[in-house]
Amino acid sequence: MKIAIIGVGYVGLVSGVCLSEVGHHVTCVDLNTQKIDKLNQNIMPIYEPRLSDMVAANRASGRLHFTTDLAAALNKTDAAFVAVGTPSRESDGHADLSQVYAAAESIAEQAAKPLVIINKSTVPVGTGDEVESIVKEARPELHFDIVSNPEFLREGAAIKDFMTPDRIVIGVESDYAKAIMAEIYAPFAQEGYPILYVNRRTSELTKYAANSYLALKLAYINEVADLCEVVGADIKGVSKGIGLDSRIGEKFVNAGPGYGGSCFPKDTLALVRTAQDHERPLRLIEMIVSSNGYRKRAMSRKIAHMCENQIKGKKIAILGLTFKPNTDDMREAPSISIIQGLQDMGAKISAYDPQGIENAKSYLKNVTYCKSILACVENADVAVIVTEWDEFRELPFAEMRAKMRSSVLVDLRNLYEGKTLNAHGFDYQCVGRPL
Ligand code: UGA
Repeated sequence: MKIAIIGVGYVGLVSGVCLSEVGHHVTCVDLNTQKIDKLNQNIMPIYEPRLSDMVAANRASGRLHFTTDLAAALNKTDAAFVAVGTPSRESDGHADLSQVYAAAESIAEQAAKPLVIINKSTVPVGTGDEVESIVKEARPELHFDIVSNPEFLREGAAIKDFMTPDRIVIGVESDYAKAIMAEIYAPFAQEGYPILYVNRRTSELTKYAANSYLALKLAYINEVADLCEVVGADIKGVSKGIGLDSRIGEKFVNAGPGYGGSCFPKDTLALVRTAQDHERPLRLIEMIVSSNGYRKRAMSRKIAHMCENQIKGKKIAILGLTFKPNTDDMREAPSISIIQGLQDMGAKISAYDPQGIENAKSYLKNVTYCKSILACVENADVAVIVTEWDEFRELPFAEMRAKMRSSVLVDLRNLYEGKTLNAHGFDYQCVGRPL
């Protein structure tokens, strides 16, 4: 099938390359000329494992194209995915839908034939109805359908998640649109991946309900971790012990410095606002929004505590800046609140991250960015593991200890055991274990 993807962000780019990989002819459109020019030279706008090779292979096969020309992309196309950003609106935390509405209007103006418009962006329940009115108003004579098909991929595992999904959720209101969606996802259905057809509003809400549930799980385990520290319990054991119950599950029970990224913080907040607007407040989600915000900042106090609150003038080496490994994404990364909190207490910060430094520069000021772990910890009083990159799972302890001025190592991802680190001469503190 011939497919257009509007918006070449994380979701649009990954969806485009994966749909071409399974045999569709895909044209990805973006207003950003620079981004499109670079993609046409195989320069990726984001870091994501396997992405660059797959883009190159599918471009070479002639099934994947990048353009700024929407009309050309829509020519002879049966289906257009909208995958534009829906950031938090600064004034009130609602999802800002201006890019979705603008894309709908442009598609309506440029559509050459009947079209199924598929919303892949994360949008509040009811947005499909709004998009339907926009298209109807712009092109009353056009035959079109609006479908909701949220994306559940994780950054850092985006290709794998798209190609081997737990499920595909499709919100449709007509048999024609359902048939088009079935054709698009036929290669996945053949492989046995579950496809769930529901109505459009159910599909839209499912995305927010899923992300908020996962965020809830994380906020919960993080609060239990805090309790562990004062009652002499170990969060790793608690996580294992509860995770082996198949009703709870072993995933998303790793305590850490709080969740970040472009999705959980914005989606939990948007769901809170939607629920409030409908006078059905989701109080649990309201609480995790504040619990997680508090936690990220509290991590700087935890580090200070390890230094007997003598932070002024200390050099603190931060290992890991991105919100999680295998991405260069800095959005809502815990490292931002942690570093700012430490700077407010007078610390000097050096930082190393395998992929995130360029992006970090626009979020953080007065940080000395380093090219390696050892350069980062040179003369440091404290080293802090903030992101669990593989590189940090096998730290060169002896060399680090020799370079550091003092011996404090704070591990906010629980990568190590205290006794191993003590044997290397470190004062070690992690998350959710007795203080
Ligand atoms: C999340 C969801 O997992 C995806 O299913 C969803 O499609 C995506 O949002 C989205 O809405 O686009 P993502 O933000 O890429 O994906 O990252 P996750 O792997 O879910 O991690 C989110 C945060 O939770 C990170 O800060 C991570 O460090 C933290 N986390 C995750 C933990 O602290 N502990 C865990 O056990 C797991």
